[in-house]
Amino acid sequence: MESIKQHIKIPKHNLLQTFVCDGCNQYVSQTELIIPSGPREGERVIANYGCRCEDIKLAKAAEQKYSRLKRSKLMDSFNYYSLINDSLKEATLDNFELLDSNLKRAKEKVLAYIHSFDRKQNLLLKGNYGTGKSHLSISITKELMKRDYECLFLSLPKLFTKIKRTYDTKGITEDELLNVIQHVDLLVLDDIGAEQQTEWSTSKLFETLDDRSGKATIYTTNLSSDELKERVNERNFSRMMDNTNVIVINSLDYRRRNF
Ligand SMILES: Nc1ncnc2c1ncn2[C@@H]1O[C@H](COP(=O)(O)OP(=O)(O)O)[C@@H](O)[C@H]1O
Ligand SMILES: [Mg+2]
Ligand SMILES: [Zn+2]
Repeated sequence: MESIKQHIKIPKHNLLQTFVCDGCNQYVSQTELIIPSGPREGERVIANYGCRCEDIKLAKAAEQKYSRLKRSKLMDSFNYYSLINDSLKEATLDNFELLDSNLKRAKEKVLAYIHSFDRKQNLLLKGNYGTGKSHLSISITKELMKRDYECLFLSLPKLFTKIKRTYDTKGITEDELLNVIQHVDLLVLDDIGAEQQTEWSTSKLFETLDDRSGKATIYTTNLSSDELKERVNERNFSRMMDNTNVIVINSLDYRRRNF
């Protein structure tokens, strides 16, 4: 036995202790090895057999990298396809000022929506011009993209009047856009009812929405319910109100607050 060991030069090893590793919860045998040959011959090495900490660290790093990549892909796609006014690009929940109790309540409801987001519940933000409806909707997309949900923000007046120019310059086809509209987890249709009817009619949009069955949509509008019903027609209106929470913002125009 002794002679065979010497022949194949198995490192000499002494079990130092056994314990349950705090990091990985595995049963670990801590062993001292003495390197049998080579330039490091005779050196003592401590090995923790059974410890999986290193594996777990590597798996976590890979997972984080994947999640970062996925998130930046979501953001790229969002920025590429969304139609947003420049004044709203920096809008976040953090820079939404709570200037009165109405805005405070609106933000609380928005936070609750984000918290319980289930990819199904819709939201209608209703109120005067400049009360932060678009600001809050953008903020929602930003928060949900942090949680890996795919979002799209479409300013409807922009979509209907500038679709050709905006999308043509990027080389985005109508089919491609319809496809994105259909599959995102959250679609924001901003300023519904304010759009002009052009080549891209409301009926086309609602046709597309029909294919988003059970997926979440946020609508914002300056119109009253009656006006909205008239603009989008009764059938589309009742479709919009299906499984939809309404947040009414009765506040002042943020931009004219100081006048
Ligand atoms: N409470 C607020 N805090 C900070 N900025 C706001 C607030 N409300 C509106 N704004 C800003 O004012 C501008 C108009 O708001 P917006 O969200 O477009 O209003 P709405 O969609 O209700 O017409 C945007 O630039 C927005 O970022
Ligand atoms: Mg708006
Ligand atoms: Zn361990």
